[in-house]
Amino acid sequence: MKEFLDQAAIIKGLGKSVFSGNLIFHKRIDSTNTHAKELALKGAPHGTVVLAEEQTAGKGRLDRKWLSPGHENLLFTILLKPTLKAENIFTLTMILAVSAIDTIKEMAGLNVLIKWPNDLYINIKKLAGILTEFSIKDGFVEYVIIGLGLNVNWMPGQGDGLLYDATSILAESGIRVSRNELLTGILKRFEISYEAVIACKMEGLHSRWNELSLVIGRDVEIISIDEVIRGKAIAIDREGALILENNRGEEIRVLSGDVSLRF
Ligand code: BTN
Repeated sequence: MKEFLDQAAIIKGLGKSVFSGNLIFHKRIDSTNTHAKELALKGAPHGTVVLAEEQTAGKGRLDRKWLSPGHENLLFTILLKPTLKAENIFTLTMILAVSAIDTIKEMAGLNVLIKWPNDLYINIKKLAGILTEFSIKDGFVEYVIIGLGLNVNWMPGQGDGLLYDATSILAESGIRVSRNELLTGILKRFEISYEAVIACKMEGLHSRWNELSLVIGRDVEIISIDEVIRGKAIAIDREGALILENNRGEEIRVLSGDVSLRF
């Protein structure tokens, strides 16, 4: 049976949380990221979460679209106003990825990996994408919005207009999980990790996102705005950058780009 997103149940599940008083729910909206950005500019508080059943103009990285049918998946954006240096922004993308992975493991028993910099994969299929947008002032973060699109109970099929092979929690596990409980679990974990990031207690988190990486140890090709970089992925550093070793044995640090795995 189809389950609707239930704001009251989510707030109850969150308990005492920075997110529980700031949850904004839409049945239909252009994009939760776009709306969160508008709210940030109007002074919305740290911890605002914009959640939608359906998006009419969902956005992915590199001007791509994020397609998702209504009432099946999770589409939400977290607005944060952290005291954080600009170079640490991508740690927030990483902790959202790890929070989602741990919650999915607990609820559906699936092993999900991070395809740096912002995708969640099961084997060779994309389960989720994260879009992190931000504003920087004097080297510090003014606000950051982190949007997650996670395929939950949708059964992606041919003709969905996707650029890649997509999957969902239901397609992989046969389990129809509660989206309300899934969201609550992700936000609770994210809040704990966020506190650790702000307190500079990064050891455990840093090793977690390396353990969960799909690309480490693999030959990759990264297409960034103006170049193509090839090499073996060695690690993701504390700031969320990917460290590659090229065929001359030199280390290259890459902050963003589109990764393909080479076989
Ligand atoms: C990507 O794969 O390139 C990132 C996709 C991010 C999609 C989510 S859905 C919720 C939030 N609102 C958006 O418009 N985009 C993000």
